[in-house]
Order: sequence, then structure tokens, then C-alpha cells
Amino acid sequence: MASAATAISGSVSSRALAPCELRAAGVQIGNRVPREAPAAPSASRRRALVGPLRAVEPGRAVAPLAAADAATIAAGAAEVGEKNGVREEGNVSQAVDLEKLAGELESASPLEVMDRALEMFGNDIAIAFSGAEDVALIEYARLTGRPFRVFSLDTGRLNPETYRFFDEVEKHYDIRIEYMFPDAVEVQALVRSKGLFSFYEDGHQECCRVRKVRPLRRALKGLRAWITGQRKDQSPGTRASIPVVQVDPSFEGLEGGTGSLVKWNPVAQVDGRDIWNFLRTMNVPVNSLHSQGYVSIGCEPCTRPVLPGQHEREGRWWWEDAKAKECGLHKGNIKQEETSHLNSDGNGGNGAGATSDIFATEAVISLRRPGIENLLRLENRQEPWLVVLYAPWCRFCQAMDASYVELAETLRGSGVKVAKFRADGDQKPFAEKELQLGSFPTVLFFPRSTSQPIKYPSENRDVESLLAFVKALR
Ligand code: ADX
Ligand code: SF4
Repeated sequence: MASAATAISGSVSSRALAPCELRAAGVQIGNRVPREAPAAPSASRRRALVGPLRAVEPGRAVAPLAAADAATIAAGAAEVGEKNGVREEGNVSQAVDLEKLAGELESASPLEVMDRALEMFGNDIAIAFSGAEDVALIEYARLTGRPFRVFSLDTGRLNPETYRFFDEVEKHYDIRIEYMFPDAVEVQALVRSKGLFSFYEDGHQECCRVRKVRPLRRALKGLRAWITGQRKDQSPGTRASIPVVQVDPSFEGLEGGTGSLVKWNPVAQVDGRDIWNFLRTMNVPVNSLHSQGYVSIGCEPCTRPVLPGQHEREGRWWWEDAKAKECGLHKGNIKQEETSHLNSDGNGGNGAGATSDIFATEAVISLRRPGIENLLRLENRQEPWLVVLYAPWCRFCQAMDASYVELAETLRGSGVKVAKFRADGDQKPFAEKELQLGSFPTVLFFPRSTSQPIKYPSENRDVESLLAFVKALR
């Protein structure tokens, strides 16, 4: 394993460099789009652009993923730009209509998306590899026959199996992974002041910021685009609407400023099972943790195996609420929720401009404050109640809308009442104090015999899981 002080060498494998036919980009590039499809740089030119990479001393504010000779890259990029008839002024994402491109690629295969990404960005793009099943990205990149770069954030807290896997991947693909390390001074300050496991006490955000997000920010400052293994099915709450390509909502690239970085998610549309079919079919090496029940893999102290049927995100930061389960690498995924929150009237009513209500069916009883207070008081209620505490602007709540409605309809006439209580705005302090509200949605079961509600403990909010909970307690 390379150390922080070790200079990191270029990551292009001889196999990845195998010449292949370059296809015309065919991309609309804003107003400055040449009418004809631009020619991509030749294989030899692309090879020349791949320079050796250097590690950056802690605290230095320059781009660690930048090639040793940043000017070479800039010159190379400018040359590509000239070839394309596009001046290298402004940001890539301003020049390219990414929404349109995302629409065009919506039903493209991951291989096609990967090919397009590598074709467009050459040496200024890299795959973010976590050491889990996103090895599929590397395999897709290999299959394009184009040169590619891979980087990984070595937090210092990964499982031994993951380090072994990195080594296996490097050997299998004949590549060097460009490891990014956290700033030693920052890690030292955190660990000396708060200990090695502070995230169990006060949440994972601070440690993730030091060990993952800042190194990522440094890495991305040396690129114009990056490629992630995010998928919609990984997190219905935060990833349900990620496009295959987008302006990065959170980070900046080489040019600096908003819109200077493009984020590619080639497997956004792919089902986790299909990724595994692909890995098996192609006989790709996989992290041995997967055979021990791990699905989603991050750092050792913050990842655990999941049981059959459990959602993969339940194995990550399990001691925290679902809402917090983006570590900052993909924090842009939760922006929309925050914005909608600000846009809503926030008072628990349905004021003008508020998001339309959810769980809107006769089978779900809408409770107001006196109703739920009554439920809390009753010690011998006639029938059990299932109540969701929600906010209509919350994407996690929106994601469970269909399953909760189906559940309510399934339970009609069963003796279990299904209800909802809008708990944002003015109602939030009450809900936090009296109803165990941590984050939206919180599902509570009020049994017949006791006033104390029981909180639904899982993030699996599909009908079967909710039903199993009700049946176990009624
Ligand atoms: S996380 O934000 O919760 O940690 P997740 O594990 O789902 O992310 O991975 C989603 C994608 O983020 C991965 O496919 C990969 O592209 C990127 N990623 C996550 N962790 C790392 C890492 N340690 N190094 C590089 N990329 C990573
Ligand atoms: Fe720290 Fe855990 Fe985040 Fe890793 S996942 S950086 S150990 S909080």
C-alpha cells in the first residue's frame, strides 16, 4: 500500500490502452457546438495526456489528482477543445447541455455511458472506486478499450479485506489506483481531541469530513469529471433520482466555480442484482467481505453485514437515522429535500406553495394534534394503530408513499388502524419530545394494551417489512 508521502504513478493499464475505434462524440455543446460531431483525440494523444500523478503534502490547497505537469493537461485539454472547435473558456458543464445528454443516455447501457464519459474527458476524468461492487465500473472502463484512471479515498479505517482487494484489483487490471489520504494534521487533531470512535457518540459527519470529503475535494480539484458507482436502488430516499450524468451539485473541478465538474453515474439505472450478474459473468474479482454478508461497504467501524432481506444501507452507520446516511461524498443528493423544506410553509398546514400532501387515500386516517394526543393517553384502546410521522416535502416520506398506501389498503378491515400525522413545522418540537421523532418518516405502532408507542426500527419501508412489524406486535 502506498503511503501518503509516496509519489503515485500513472494508472493506465497496458490493456486499457489497447487501441480502439474512437467514435464521434455526437454531443450538443451549448451555443458553441460545432455542427459536425467533434473528433476525439487520437489514442496516442490520449496516452500522452496521461501523466504521472503526485501526492500532495498535507495542507496544500492544490489538486492532488492533477498530473505532475498540470500545464500539460491544460494544454492537452485546450488542444482537444481546439480540435472540437470549442474554446476552452468557461466550464465544461456550461458548454455541454448535460440535462439533454442525461436524457439521451437515460436508457443507454453502463458500457455506453462509460465510453461516452471517457471519450469526452480523456485524462481529466477518473473513476471513484470504493473497494466494493463498484469494481464493475473498472470492468466497464476496461471493456471500452480506452485509457482510464481510478482513485480511491483511503480513510485509514477500511477493512483489511478491502486493502487486499485494492491490491488484487491493481494486479488484475494492471493499474495503479490513485489513493487519496486524509490530512495527517486534521486526523491527528480529531483523534487526539475526541478519540478513535467519536462518530458513535456524535455522528459520522465530522470524521467523514476529515477522512473522506476533504480528500475527495482535493482529488476533484484536479479533474473535470468523475465517475461514481451510485445507483438509484441503493437509497430510495437520497438516490432515487440521480441521473446518469449531471453537473456536480457539490464539488468543484479544475476550472473552479459552480459547474466546473461533471459527475457521471453510469450504473444509476442498474439494479444491484444485475451488477452482481455482470460481475459473475465477467469473472471480475470481488471484495471477500461480500461473501460474509456485507453488501454496501465503507469503513470498518461504520459498516456491518446485513441480514437476508435487509436493505443494504442498514449496514452503514446503523446507529444513526436514515436521513444522515450520506457521508458527504454525495451530499448533493439531499439538497433537493432541504430546498423543498425551505419552500414549504413549514407550519404543518397546506399553505400556498407547499408540496402536495402524501399518503392521500381514505385508508390512511389523517390525525391532527388532539387525535394523536388522545392516542398517547389511551391505555386500553380498542384497536392498535400504526401512525407515520411525516413531512410531505421529505423525500424519504415520498419514497414510502406507495408502500404505506398499499399497506393501509391491505390492512383495511383487519382491526388495525393506519394513520398519518404531519409532524413538521410547529408540530416538530412536540413530535420530537413526545413521539420519538428523530427524522422523517418515523413509523409508530400503538398497541392495544399500552400507551407507549413502539418505533419501527428498520429502514426497509416496503409493504412486506411493515406488515411483518404490524403482525409481530398486534
Ligand atoms: S457513501 O457515500 O455511502 O460512502 P457508497 O459507499 O454508497 O458511498 O458508494 C457510492 C459511490 O461513491 C461508489 O461507487 C464510489 O464511486 C464512491 N465512493 C464511496 N466511497 C469511496 C471511497 N472510499 N473512495 C472512492 N470513491 C468512493
Ligand atoms: Fe470515519 Fe466512519 Fe466516515 Fe469512515 S465512514 S470516515 S470511519 S465516520
